[in-house]
Amino acid sequence: TYVVIENCIKCKYMDCVEVCPVDCFYEGENMLVIHPDECIDCGVCEPECPAEAIKPDTERGLEKWLELNGAMAKAWPNVTVKRDPLPDAKAFDGRPGKYDEFFS
Ligand code: SF4
Ligand code: F3S
Repeated sequence: TYVVIENCIKCKYMDCVEVCPVDCFYEGENMLVIHPDECIDCGVCEPECPAEAIKPDTERGLEKWLELNGAMAKAWPNVTVKRDPLPDAKAFDGRPGKYDEFFS
């Protein structure tokens, strides 16, 4: 499966939702996640994210994000239509510590 990681937070560019063939993105206030049981590992969303916030879970050190994607996908609503990014997306892109400050 692919997972959404920290840099999505407060950016939420949403380009990813448009390309997913199985519509497996779920939406929180400040970030999206991928449902690990629904993702078919096609990989098309990864290069679409301007924030480089989508990675295959085979990359090292993403266990926390895999767990978070799985848990939040069950709690948050499905999202299939792209809207505008969050207002300060550019300013937040690449900023460290977003999980502790803004995860939701
Ligand atoms: Fe959707 Fe493919 Fe991305 Fe999985 S890898 S979330 S199936 S676009
Ligand atoms: Fe987030 Fe990137 Fe999608 S910033 S909403 S994972 S396009």
